[in-house]
Formats: sequence, structure tokens, C-alpha cells
Amino acid sequence: MQVQLKNIEVEKSKTTKINEVDFDNLAFGSVYSDHMLVCDYKNGAWETPKIMPYQPIILDPAAKIFHYGQSIFEGMKAYKDTDGKPWLFRPLDNHKRLNISAKRMAIPEIPEETFIEGLTTLLHLEKDWIPTTPGSSLYIRPFVMASGIGFHASPADEYKFIICCAPSGAYFSGKVSVLIEEQYSRSANGGVGYAKAGGNYAGQFYPTQLAIKKGYNQVIWTDDNTHEYIEEAGAMNIFIRINDTLITGPTSDRILDGITRKSILEIAEDEGIKTEVRKISVTEVVTAAKSGKLKEMFGAGTAAVVSPIAAFGYKGVDYDLPELNDDYASLLKKRITDIQYNRTEDKFGWRF
Ligand code: COI
Repeated sequence: MQVQLKNIEVEKSKTTKINEVDFDNLAFGSVYSDHMLVCDYKNGAWETPKIMPYQPIILDPAAKIFHYGQSIFEGMKAYKDTDGKPWLFRPLDNHKRLNISAKRMAIPEIPEETFIEGLTTLLHLEKDWIPTTPGSSLYIRPFVMASGIGFHASPADEYKFIICCAPSGAYFSGKVSVLIEEQYSRSANGGVGYAKAGGNYAGQFYPTQLAIKKGYNQVIWTDDNTHEYIEEAGAMNIFIRINDTLITGPTSDRILDGITRKSILEIAEDEGIKTEVRKISVTEVVTAAKSGKLKEMFGAGTAAVVSPIAAFGYKGVDYDLPELNDDYASLLKKRITDIQYNRTEDKFGWRF
């Protein structure tokens, strides 16, 4: 896709931090590139976006983000192929989802050209920050927050749309074990679970801390009503393989419409893997684990890509997942990352 670069003010950084970064040992999202994009919403309209040196932002203590958490975000990645060419993966889907989140959180929607031109202009400047070590990428964090002030509990009248970038390695290191949640919920019908609202994630921290204290890495979220149906895995969508069928829950008010999730479903179908998008109960998973029919569980998301789950705990009992040579997780991870890193033809038209 051709992008017209116009209408963006660019102030280049006079220095670079790139030589301070150990690109061979990147953690996830903990060092940031030289520039960021900032676009202000004032007087009922989004202003001209500006690209500027990465820097702290100044906010009034009465900004509504601090009091009412009016904020949304996206997670994206830029990949570099072996010829040094940068690629994005389905960025228009991120833009669409940002605006779905915006609507739910009463935040003004971001025009498509602001998002796409802003992003591509920023990445043009930051292309040397896209790492090339295997498994690494430039994690991109577009977000919008209420910068307008007031203690009145109502939407702000000013916002900031910001994009910043972090060269990143893997989200998880080592095996992931998860605890199926029996008490806390991530989302509810009529709530904001389908939106990438900042508070959705903050609300996960305490139950996840409790799970970590018990020796697990993450929580498997279950439905808020009965805690009987599996919904998401930490900050990822979840896939469960019983015998040879790959199952994931349907998107809803409560389950995020993950871009990795829907891509994995399409790739699995293309591979001839039987997929089912349906509610899956904890009882079904535990019964399958006991009878040896539970073959795999894995999380799927932009940050974590495809993250196999090695074990899960439920009601005080731990269940190990088998180690397979022909696991779907490895196959699907290879297929999606081959597209993302331009190692293969992209029959789906996802590369950008
Ligand atoms: C992503 O996968 O990019 C997300 O937005 C999840 C985030 C909490 C790391």
C-alpha cells in the first residue's frame, strides 16, 4: 500500500540512544526508540500530528486519565526481513480496533490517515530500531488518553494520541504454567472486555499476583457468571486442542477480537486443522486432561505471538500438558511469523 506522507510535523532528535541498546539481549518493551508521535485533540478536533524526540509528557494533575482511567491502547509490531525491509502486520485492523475501543470509552475516534500516516512516518524514522535478532521485533504502542482536566466524572474534552516504539524480545521466557481462575473476572457482559482499555489490564494484576505467589505465571480467565467457561489467558486469547480439534471461545463483550487469534484461525483452517469457535468449559478441559485427550493449550497475542502452556492448575490440582513433536503451536507460530518477517508468500494479504 502506498502512503502519502503529508501533514505531519517532524522534529528530529539531535542525538540517538541506539548505541546504548544491547540488541542481542532485548527484554520486552523496556527500552524506547528515539522518536514518538503525539497528536492532540482540542476544541473538538484532532490537530496535526507531530513526531518529536522521545520525551516525558506534561499533564495536569486533574487530567481525567489519572482519575477515571479514560485510556485505550493497541499492540503492534514492525518486523525486518533479511533484506532489511520493514513490515507491519494487518495495521488497518489495529486502527479499526482502536476506534472500537475509543467508542466504548467515549474517546473521539482517530482518523485512519492520522493513524496510518503517523505510524508509517514514525517507522520510517525509526527503521534502524527494528531488531533483526531471531524472535525480536519493534513493538509499537499506539495509545490514547484523556488529557483534559476536571473531577467531574464525564468524558474529557482533550486527549492525546501517542505512538511510541520499543525494540523487544520474547514476552515470555521459559515454560508458561497457568491457573484457572475461580474467583476473579476480567470482564462481564455489557462491560469493556472487548476493548483494549488500560484498566482492563490493571484489573488483572492483583489476581495474577496471587497466581504467581502460588507458582503459576498467568491466570486463565473464566466467565464472570459461572467461572465454568474458559475465556482468555492473561493478556492473550487462548486456544485449546482436544484430540486434533483446535478450539477457541467466540469473541463477545468479554473476549477481545485478537488479530493474532483470527489470523491463527485462518492459518489453521488453511492447514486443514479442524477448528471450532465455541464456548469451552473447564469441565471439558479437565476431563480431556484426565483422559489424555487434551493435547495442547496456547495463548495467542501480538506481544506473545503463540505461547504454549506447559501446565495448568485447577482447584488445587496441577495438570501437565504432553510434549508433542507435531504440535499445532509450533506449526502455527512458524506460519504466522514467516508471513510477518516476509519469509514466505503472503496468500492472505496481511503484510503491509
Ligand atoms: C499485545 O499482545 O500486544 C497486547 O496488547 C497485550 C499487552 C498487555 C502486552
